[in-house]
Amino acid sequence: MKQNNSAMKAITYSRFGDLNVLQTVDEPQPVAQADQVLVHVKAVSLNPLDWKIRKGEMRLMSGSTFPKHTGTDFAGIVERVGSSVTHVEPGDEVFGVVKNGMKEGALAEYVAVAASHVWKKPTSLEYAQAASIPTVGAAAVAALEKMGPLQAGTQVLVNGATGGFGMFLLQLLSNTDATITAVTSTNALELANAWGADRVIDYKKENVLSQQATYDVVIDLSGKMGYRNAKRILKRRARFINVIPQPADILASWVNNWFTGKKHLVLLSGPSSENMNRLIKAIDDGLQVEVSKTFPFAQAKEAYQYAERGGYVGKVAVTVA
Ligand SMILES: NC(=O)c1ccc[n+]([C@@H]2O[C@H](COP(=O)([O-])OP(=O)(O)OC[C@H]3O[C@@H](n4cnc5c(N)ncnc54)[C@H](OP(=O)(O)O)[C@@H]3O)[C@@H](O)[C@H]2O)c1
Repeated sequence: MKQNNSAMKAITYSRFGDLNVLQTVDEPQPVAQADQVLVHVKAVSLNPLDWKIRKGEMRLMSGSTFPKHTGTDFAGIVERVGSSVTHVEPGDEVFGVVKNGMKEGALAEYVAVAASHVWKKPTSLEYAQAASIPTVGAAAVAALEKMGPLQAGTQVLVNGATGGFGMFLLQLLSNTDATITAVTSTNALELANAWGADRVIDYKKENVLSQQATYDVVIDLSGKMGYRNAKRILKRRARFINVIPQPADILASWVNNWFTGKKHLVLLSGPSSENMNRLIKAIDDGLQVEVSKTFPFAQAKEAYQYAERGGYVGKVAVTVA
């Protein structure tokens, strides 16, 4: 593989902290190894995991070595491929995800990533939309599989339903026979309906936990509910899907599931060719990928500020020239 001595811009940080630790640096372009693809990045979508890592909340997994890069999900154009890569070639439009999101980041002009984590971009999507797929799309597919049989009459509650994860999940759920209740904020109620919710609840006006309705499946994407609170709205043999598990939840859920019919299930998902191909098919069939706002690379910090504040639907992305 030819060495690459060119420089590029990347967003990095050298200590854990708030937005102010983010900096734009010049560094050498990465070199694709035999099983890697060098991608000229065109867009990166932002995920809550990015700022959880940056704030040091995941340091057990991310480690504390610096500098760190940020942003896991990207789309762009293949610049070069390693010697063993056959499924994409220079010039292809692709999207993908860094293999180890705890240690690597894609918010840069170029990224070298495992070929197994790069897929051809659906032609109907812009780069920012394609960059929005991997992490939350994979999570939505995995969540659907954890929900068990979704038949007519199955009541599913999606709490925090119109962020990135909810956008994919609602639309995948809409192809099942389940009845979907979406909890979201006032500005997103219509969109939740459009994405497939049968019933919507505005969390700024109503508290779903104090209502009479009970559910067969509850998934909390807001991180504000928790299994302990959700129990009161779970039917006798219902499932609660915990997408933000703390290490203690994994043991607690296992113990809980022995002693009660209500199941506390922990979700740990990751993009794979299987789930990406399923999503590409769903996109070809009409699944919408909404990017609320894109920011230019020079405003990456503002992009994170906007994303971390919340109050938008779908995804936020940074475009890279
Ligand atoms: N376990 C896994 O494998 C996995 C994979 C991917 C993601 N995740 C996690 O899943 C979570 C959701 O991801 P995401 O990308 O969808 O995040 P997101 O885009 O920030 O969506 C979260 C949603 O929750 C809503 N919300 C905030 N407070 C709420 C409340 N009190 N009640 C109801 N809804 C509320 C927000 O609405 P407003 O902004 O309007 O307030 C927002 O739409 C994140 O914590 C992420 O880290 C886990």
